[in-house]
Amino acid sequence: MIKTSISILDCDFNNLEYEINRVNNSNSDLIHIDIMDGKFVPNNTLEKFDMNKISKYSDKNFDVHLMVENPIDYISSFVTPLTDYISIHLESKGIDQSLKSIKENGIKCGLAINPDTKIQKLYPFLEIIDMVIIMSVFPGKGGQNFIENTYDKVETLRNHDKNIDISVDGGVGSSNSKTLISKGASTLVSGSYLMKSNNINNSIKNMLKH
Ligand code: DX5
Ligand code: ZN
Repeated sequence: MIKTSISILDCDFNNLEYEINRVNNSNSDLIHIDIMDGKFVPNNTLEKFDMNKISKYSDKNFDVHLMVENPIDYISSFVTPLTDYISIHLESKGIDQSLKSIKENGIKCGLAINPDTKIQKLYPFLEIIDMVIIMSVFPGKGGQNFIENTYDKVETLRNHDKNIDISVDGGVGSSNSKTLISKGASTLVSGSYLMKSNNINNSIKNMLKH
């Protein structure tokens, strides 16, 4: 079963309850929370994501994506009863300690990898993580164009590991989802394509249709 995770990065934060209700009413499996610290990437979303409010409104579990330099400083803020996954970047600092801390909190851990980092760098971690996020755009903002060499990275990783959950994040929509699935992706993160749609469920169907 292919899972979908909706990024609310570019939703209307002035109407957060309405926006999260749209996600609640959809068939999406998860809600993807994009956290940026202004250091690992230029943007900062720390204030925008009020986890108390999001927890109050959301029926969906969280797939937290930390695009931060020092993940260990942020993990505890995102440990909530709804948090299923916390992912940190392979390019961040102190990743062993951070992965350990995520696990100790009873949360599934993921490692995200930038478009210009070789997929083989993940191999030593596959035994201890639950998910890989292959970035199909450079992290930092939503609405960017999908980078085509992502297909090869997904295929290479899937040939190396038949079981790991492979999530793809950035510019994902119906124009690339089928190829991603055929190469071995198991979770599709989508922001603009789904949140800008008038009918999220139809758009999810279009992404998953063979
Ligand atoms: C990029 C984020 C992505 C992104 C997804 O820095 O990690 O999750 O917001 O949004 P779209 O689908 O619009 O690229
Ligand atoms: Zn993300």
